[in-house]
Amino acid sequence: MIVLGIETSCDETSVALVENGTNVLKELTFSQIKTHQQFGGVVPEIAAREHLTYIDEAIWRLLENWDIKDIDRVAVVNGPGLVSSLLVGVVAAKTFSWCNDIELVNVNHLKAHICANFLNSQDIQPPFICLLASGGHTQLFYVEGYTKIQILGETLDDSAGEAFDKTARLLGLNYPGGPEIEKLSLKGNKDIFKLPKPKVGKYEFSFSGLKTAALRLTQSLKEKNSFEENKANIAANFQEVVCQSLTDKLLTASKEFSESKVVLAGGVAANKRLRQMIQENSENRVKLFAPEIKYCTDNGAMVASAGYFCPEGFGNDFSVYSRAK
Ligand code: KG4
Ligand code: ZN
Repeated sequence: MIVLGIETSCDETSVALVENGTNVLKELTFSQIKTHQQFGGVVPEIAAREHLTYIDEAIWRLLENWDIKDIDRVAVVNGPGLVSSLLVGVVAAKTFSWCNDIELVNVNHLKAHICANFLNSQDIQPPFICLLASGGHTQLFYVEGYTKIQILGETLDDSAGEAFDKTARLLGLNYPGGPEIEKLSLKGNKDIFKLPKPKVGKYEFSFSGLKTAALRLTQSLKEKNSFEENKANIAANFQEVVCQSLTDKLLTASKEFSESKVVLAGGVAANKRLRQMIQENSENRVKLFAPEIKYCTDNGAMVASAGYFCPEGFGNDFSVYSRAK
């Protein structure tokens, strides 16, 4: 089965053709990062307008040299995400499906992030414990089956990605902040400062206190004129505290559920220190899976994969648009 995946929930207009949920045949992404960088974060109105500008071109360029008849299903993210941006993808998907008489399914963006792990035939199947850490969410799941996903806990305030983005801004770094902090951390010493570890429930996360502590530290270093020389040290310690919190919860869940397969998903899963820390702290007790770096952040291929493994269907209200074969 070949699925056309469409992702427009935030700042990437991304489309892909994926066979049987795993084999990426073709993909195309128009990234808006450069546009939003000047504002230090995603501006929803601008994001929606850019999706509108590029969505048709993205789909037609993806389908160059492809016969539309080869496509068995269209999958589109309908949430969570920026509503005006989601609408662009959903309308494009419905139109394409209707005009070409192809079945249409909707996909949950978070499930799509989990499915990024199935791309390009990694040998992984549920059950597993999954940590999803993105710009909008930080959640821990027990994935019992492709359509049976139990949420164990989530953040009480900011997501891990948001904490990376806001702290990066504080340090004068570009958006998105995660990769910037990861790069700067390599030049810093993680042990010079001791930002506070979040103290919350077993499967809960919290990053807003840490973010405020980083702000206070930055202010006090600026007053002493020693901020510039310590920027990399703050970045390194901040990254360490976030990764330690994510690692602790993931490994606790893996122990309690006696599940040795652990899986990462979402933009923060691209962080190499996080991957390394999980391996180190687990003392080879777990087998860690994570998507290829390019499939950690938003992309159409993961949507196509979710459209194959865990489609939700548009339900009765939308049956007029969904022409299951
Ligand atoms: O999953 P994603 O593309 O979008 C949402 O669904 O939110 O995640 C984007 C988030 C941003 O906050 C970005 O800073 C973070 O993922 N991110 C990283 C890294 N690459 C992206 N965080 C830490 N380390 C990275 N290497
Ligand atoms: Zn995402």
